[in-house]
Amino acid sequence: MQENKVELGGDWTYAPAPEDKKHVKIEKRYDLFINGKFVKPAKGKYFDTISPSTEEVLSQIAEADEKDVDTAVKAARNAYDKVWKKMPAKERGKYIFRIARMIQERSRELAVIESMNGGKPIRESRDIDVPLAANHFFYYAGWADKLEYAFPGKKPQSLGVVGQIIPWNFPLLMAAWKIAPALATGNTVVLKPAETTSLTALKLAEIIQESGLPDGVVNIVTGHGKTGAAIVNHPLVNKVAFTGSTDVGKIIQKAVAGTNKKVTLELGGKAANIVFEDAPIDQAVEGIVNGIFFNQGHVCCAGSRLFVQEGVAEELIRKLKDRMQTLIVGDPLDKNTDIGAINSKEQLQKIDHYLKLGSEEGAEMYQPSCSIPSKGFFCKPTLFLHASQSHRIVQEEIFGPVLTVQTFRTIEEVVEKANNIPYGLSAGVWTDKGSKIFNLTQNLRAGVIWANTYNKFDPTSPFGGYKESGFGREGGLHGLMPYLELT
Ligand code: NAI
Ligand code: MG
Repeated sequence: MQENKVELGGDWTYAPAPEDKKHVKIEKRYDLFINGKFVKPAKGKYFDTISPSTEEVLSQIAEADEKDVDTAVKAARNAYDKVWKKMPAKERGKYIFRIARMIQERSRELAVIESMNGGKPIRESRDIDVPLAANHFFYYAGWADKLEYAFPGKKPQSLGVVGQIIPWNFPLLMAAWKIAPALATGNTVVLKPAETTSLTALKLAEIIQESGLPDGVVNIVTGHGKTGAAIVNHPLVNKVAFTGSTDVGKIIQKAVAGTNKKVTLELGGKAANIVFEDAPIDQAVEGIVNGIFFNQGHVCCAGSRLFVQEGVAEELIRKLKDRMQTLIVGDPLDKNTDIGAINSKEQLQKIDHYLKLGSEEGAEMYQPSCSIPSKGFFCKPTLFLHASQSHRIVQEEIFGPVLTVQTFRTIEEVVEKANNIPYGLSAGVWTDKGSKIFNLTQNLRAGVIWANTYNKFDPTSPFGGYKESGFGREGGLHGLMPYLELT
């Protein structure tokens, strides 16, 4: 890996502060977690998983085929019928609490592996991903024996086996978002992590095994898209929960049409982050930086379109550029790092394609002068000034540290522009006036709207989108509903 000295605007440097990884144990090879045991894939196939910041191979991961998925789904069905469905809800809750505590106990190891395998800065995996994952288990453990109170007058009933497919941007956290509510509502699970980031899900499998959760209640099968499709298409799967690209979301929706399977989809986003003239500008600059450069912009709710009111545009853009000069791109395990590695070569190529496209479309590109490591997949934080509504960089999800900038005069104008895209997951608003905030929360078609902050998550609040961003809510009391039949 390249010399880990960090340049700050060219003038001075930070000494490296890398997180220790000696305490971390990564096996050479990981099998499938089915029916409480780690088992070899039927065809004996494995694929490499790498560190996107060094390109070194970390481990080999089993590739599950249809037969393996069938075994996993049947194990989940059996565990549902024989054990989990019959278990008193209070007892189910105890297991979920135990998993939450074990995630906390192993948080350091999980954070380091998340950063090694996924590329995100250790500061984030340590302070956001892992604690939030534990909190999701804690939160939903509490609901397990209180479902009647969540839905007064209704009789909440579990669905059976749920198939869950998750992406690579928050690997452990997405596993927690999916598994915790499914277990709390009395369902059993077959989960597939993304092919580039299987390691923390497999660590979670170890935790689940150690927790004593009855065999087959949670099964974790690794593999590529075909493995995911086998889960979606399995006749014994009663519900599918998916987070990922809009393209795959559409495939899944077609696949379950005409079946009795329930489905929730969390898809892409292209959030507007809107700054009014009366906003606290310095605070807004921090929020904009957090909104798009957090986790390399690998966030479905990333604030990827900045709208700034004309009167403060010049000042805000100057301050934003200054702030971008101080951002540190590099080793995810270094505690100074602000922007880690792009998750995969494919994703970096996709982002690079949009960088070229943005310039061709006539927007003005700005990147700070920071250095980036020569090995691994890295991308400088990027602004596109003078972007216009019809540009593809404004309309399409880039999923990288790339921010388009547009100006506006009136609130009506910005509402129209913000809504005029296929997505509707989230938005941000920066203003001193509560009335403007309420105006926007009424008029923006977005599932989550942050005011004078950005990218704040909590297990108690629901999350989800409109339009091509998908449907169904995760988190909070709402997040229980997709896993229940309410009669
Ligand atoms: P993807 O949608 O292909 O992958 C997400 C998950 O779906 C992975 O576990 C994958 O193995 C699985 N999958 C792929 N094809 C499947 C199929 N036919 N049936 C069932 N499961 C399948 O996302 P990808 O290709 O990694 O990223 C492409 C773009 O999607 C990104 O550039 C980004 O724009 C968007 N994306 C959005 C995410 C979000 O959180 N909303 C997360 C990841 C990607
Ligand atoms: Mg894909």
